[in-house]
Amino acid sequence: MSASFRIKAVGVGATVALAACLLGGRPAASSQATQTAPMTGATPPNRPTPPTATPQASPGGASVPQATPATATTPPRPGAFNAGAARTQEDPAAVERGKTLYGLSCQACHGQDLRGGDMGGPNLLRSQVALSDQHGELITPIIHGARQAQGMPNIGLNDADALAVAAYVRSVIGTIKGQGTPPGELKALNIVVGDPHRGKAYFDQHCESCHATSGDFAHLADKYSEPKTLQARWLAGGRSTALDAPGNKTTVSVTTAPGQTVNGGLLHIDDFLVSLHLPDGTEQSFKRRGNVPEVVLHDPLQAHRDMLPQYTDSDIHDVTAYLVTLK
Ligand code: HEC
Ligand code: HEC
Repeated sequence: MSASFRIKAVGVGATVALAACLLGGRPAASSQATQTAPMTGATPPNRPTPPTATPQASPGGASVPQATPATATTPPRPGAFNAGAARTQEDPAAVERGKTLYGLSCQACHGQDLRGGDMGGPNLLRSQVALSDQHGELITPIIHGARQAQGMPNIGLNDADALAVAAYVRSVIGTIKGQGTPPGELKALNIVVGDPHRGKAYFDQHCESCHATSGDFAHLADKYSEPKTLQARWLAGGRSTALDAPGNKTTVSVTTAPGQTVNGGLLHIDDFLVSLHLPDGTEQSFKRRGNVPEVVLHDPLQAHRDMLPQYTDSDIHDVTAYLVTLK
């Protein structure tokens, strides 16, 4: 896990638009998330799990009781491995907020459906920690940095937000029958609900100056074939998480004296030091004292950063509905 990975907590208030997009524009999402009987799938929820669905041994360690083997004469009880089923209902408001925060702060590593993601986070639907959590007591310490040595950074959420994310994780676990089963309802959510014609008009006005549908975006929907991913990526200018820190394409100009400017790619910046990657392949660092030397950052994603708070829900839905047609 790259040590340079950074995630900053994003206040819920500032992310209404993102919330809407992550929820797919369906106000009923939180009540769906707390239902225990999945709507999809061939097996009625009350039937015993067929023997082929042998639950996996827990990754948590040997102290966890082993699953009933598939050959046993007694069929496993329905929900026997679903610690979420017996729980009381989660607070829908917390679940809703937690879902938004999950999308911003966890999804890149643990996946949109909690089954693990591109950046190496494990499947939370098989996680003994997540399955055993009752009210955040096991999950929130991890959010606050208890597993940093194992590759999960301190996410920097405040206590209330960490509890909301934990409530969301439990609510998803509550919708599934057994460990590791994909949450059918989450998969069924269709986020392509906008109007592609309005989306094209919006794109022509706000995006075309930098992106050409005959050029770099000609096959955008093939590159991001999952609409949710496509939506998250266009909002964040191609990055996998919210725009919260300078990207790795940020360049910097350091002016040490009038007429003496060094330009390069940003490697590191804090109040006391700025480090650049120079075009000739070398690196150079400058001590900073206040405004000396003068440092100017150029982030190619500044436009995306500036646009983020301006989208309305329907802008987001419409643009996504248009972008999915770019194949
Ligand atoms: C940068 C990637 C990254 C991000 C972001 C991240 N995680 Fe993790 N997470 C990991 C890794 C890697 C592990 C495995 C650590 C270990 O082996 O103990 C982990 C482990 C966990 C575990 C324990 C799983 C288990 O059974 O051992 C939980 C629970 C968890 N993460 C929840 C979250 C939540 C909730 C968020 C968002 C608030 C989050 N993570 C954000 C990478 C990440
Ligand atoms: C001022 C220029 C600018 C504007 C305006 C702009 N973008 Fe971007 N966008 C960028 C830059 C720069 C990148 C990063 C490109 C890269 O990493 O190569 C980017 C990346 C993206 C990506 C990721 C592309 C990929 O292949 O991963 C998407 C999708 C995207 N923008 C969509 C949009 C949409 C939709 C709009 C309008 C709502 C928009 N952009 C407006 C500059 C802009």
